[in-house]
Amino acid sequence: MTSPRKTYIIANWKMNFTPGEASLYLHRLEKRITPSRNVQVILAPSTVALQPLSLQINRRQFKLAAQNFYWRDYGAYTGETSVSQLRGFVDYAIVGHSERRYVFNESEEDIAKKVAAAIRNNLTPILCIGETAMERKDGETAAAIYSQLINGLHEVSKEDISKIIIAYEPVWAISSNKNARPAKPADIDEAQILIRKHVSKLFGKTASEQIPVLYGGSVNSDTAGGYLSINGIDGLLIGGASLIADSFCAIVETAKGMKKYE
Ligand code: 13P
Repeated sequence: MTSPRKTYIIANWKMNFTPGEASLYLHRLEKRITPSRNVQVILAPSTVALQPLSLQINRRQFKLAAQNFYWRDYGAYTGETSVSQLRGFVDYAIVGHSERRYVFNESEEDIAKKVAAAIRNNLTPILCIGETAMERKDGETAAAIYSQLINGLHEVSKEDISKIIIAYEPVWAISSNKNARPAKPADIDEAQILIRKHVSKLFGKTASEQIPVLYGGSVNSDTAGGYLSINGIDGLLIGGASLIADSFCAIVETAKGMKKYE
């Protein structure tokens, strides 16, 4: 029997915690989360906290992810941080989060270049895709998922598709949005089937079966178990609940206790 796929539990702290607060919070998590072969816990603090946390973490227990970066490796780009400057500190990089797409007007072209830059620098991109409330209302969910996938993966070769994680985050389910509501397991299942179908068309069947697909949007310690039990969902990308140690640790425990790892 092949061993079950790894589960990824990712904490996106967004623009919260000073470096000092992030370090204290990490201390609390360190005491409560033990390393696991099956569950990879990844923390995505803001850029200023990446360097100090990279010195503090035990990499068998936690990995770090960048929330954002610029796709060029160096040059005259005032205020930007390149992925080549970050790669000593992080193993993963979030790309295409809806807050980057819609608050900072990041284009599909920027996103494709960021995915390519992460791979070029040996980091695993976590490509976020997901439809808006309006797109869902207009019956355009499948089209939105397809276009974000095909554009985001535009510069990825067949050899490199195995280095990518996809996170399905419907914009209407993210807790910071007005009228946010959690997605139903059936919606998430439909989306992961679609994602795998498109990956299969673009990169082949093996890639579609092996690519990790995560869910994000208003996940908390009560709902995590239900989402994780969807066949084809390989983990969670968590915003609000990742800022509360009790909630985040409970979600990690739920992931570790999943039936497939018994
Ligand atoms: P919430 O868990 O706060 O809805 O945030 C989800 C998210 O945007 C993670 O990237």
